[in-house]
Amino acid sequence: MLLSQLLHLQGVESVVLERRTKTHVMGRIRAGVLEQGTVDLLREAGVAGRLEAEGLIHEGLDIAFAGRRHRLDLAGLTGGRTVTVYGQTEVTRDLFEARERLGGTVVDCAEDVTLHDLAGDAPHVTYRHAGEHRRINCDFIAGCDGFHGISRSSIPSSVLREFEQVYAFGWIGVLSRTPPVSPELIYASHERGFALCSMRSPTLSRYYLQCPAQDLPEQWTDERFWEELKRRLPEATGDDLVAGPSVEKSVAPMRSYVAEPLRYGRLFLVGDAAHIVPPTGAKGLNLAASDVHYLWHALVDYYRRNDDAGLQNYSENALARVWKCERFSWWMTSLLHRFPETGPFRERVQRAELDYLFSSRAAMTSLAENYVGLPY
Ligand code: DHB
Repeated sequence: MLLSQLLHLQGVESVVLERRTKTHVMGRIRAGVLEQGTVDLLREAGVAGRLEAEGLIHEGLDIAFAGRRHRLDLAGLTGGRTVTVYGQTEVTRDLFEARERLGGTVVDCAEDVTLHDLAGDAPHVTYRHAGEHRRINCDFIAGCDGFHGISRSSIPSSVLREFEQVYAFGWIGVLSRTPPVSPELIYASHERGFALCSMRSPTLSRYYLQCPAQDLPEQWTDERFWEELKRRLPEATGDDLVAGPSVEKSVAPMRSYVAEPLRYGRLFLVGDAAHIVPPTGAKGLNLAASDVHYLWHALVDYYRRNDDAGLQNYSENALARVWKCERFSWWMTSLLHRFPETGPFRERVQRAELDYLFSSRAAMTSLAENYVGLPY
């Protein structure tokens, strides 16, 4: 949707195919932390009005361990860079609204989407909509269809290399109409497992707990969730926690995954279609946005100046940043979660790493510059 909007503003037309209904898409709760680069891109796309009015600028975050909270001064450590707390679902709402307003074509409930002739000069897409068979002739196809989409699987397996790490745990997330426990996010490492206190607004909180990967939301009654969250936070923070009924509850699996290359002929993979990060650090949406940045510029150069260098280099350029974000998300996950399978030595090393982090400005700066977003 973002790529489509950006291209439209440069006079390049596109059709967006969505497998689900708009209602389904708008019902999903995803992460809520935007890097400055993502905010800038949304502004260029002309969809940052509400984000600028309602988004919460965060200049720091807390990491809690051993019963204490330690503040990381993101702005102070990075020369004034910040992040914006604004839900991914709201970004999607703003994009739907903008595409509709500008007369963009977004087809929902597109079935049996199939990509053809990717390696040739004239690829096309076929799909079914409301029982009718349809065909789109394309110059290029952007595979922005997520981990389970058909784009990546349309690339021959002899071409694709995959790199993967699956974690034995997931996150159970709860959204509740309660005031956030703290004005900034708290990432908590505790012997019972990781916990995260986040928010969507001053009256809407988002909390997460590390849980076994196979847990179902039904196993987590609201009461059990609040009790467990309180136990994983420093005592004074737990005492400030305002519990309330959940308005959404879901379990997110944890995985690190990259497929290479991101280009096959005239197909370009973007976002989760090519790579997954575990949620720690909220890089998923931001990484999709940086892919969009590279592909958008490459396509505009091609159409405006007949220059295909950006398209030729898309995979290499985007992957260089993808791997740095993969590293950071993996590292944040390793730093803060319990890995019971790795034993007491690893536990002590983890504790030492947290201790070191808050005794070294260099270590804090490294975390901060990755968290606010590496340059494009
Ligand atoms: C949120 C999610 C994250 O993965 C994270 O690191 C921070 C915040 C969120 O949903 O608010």
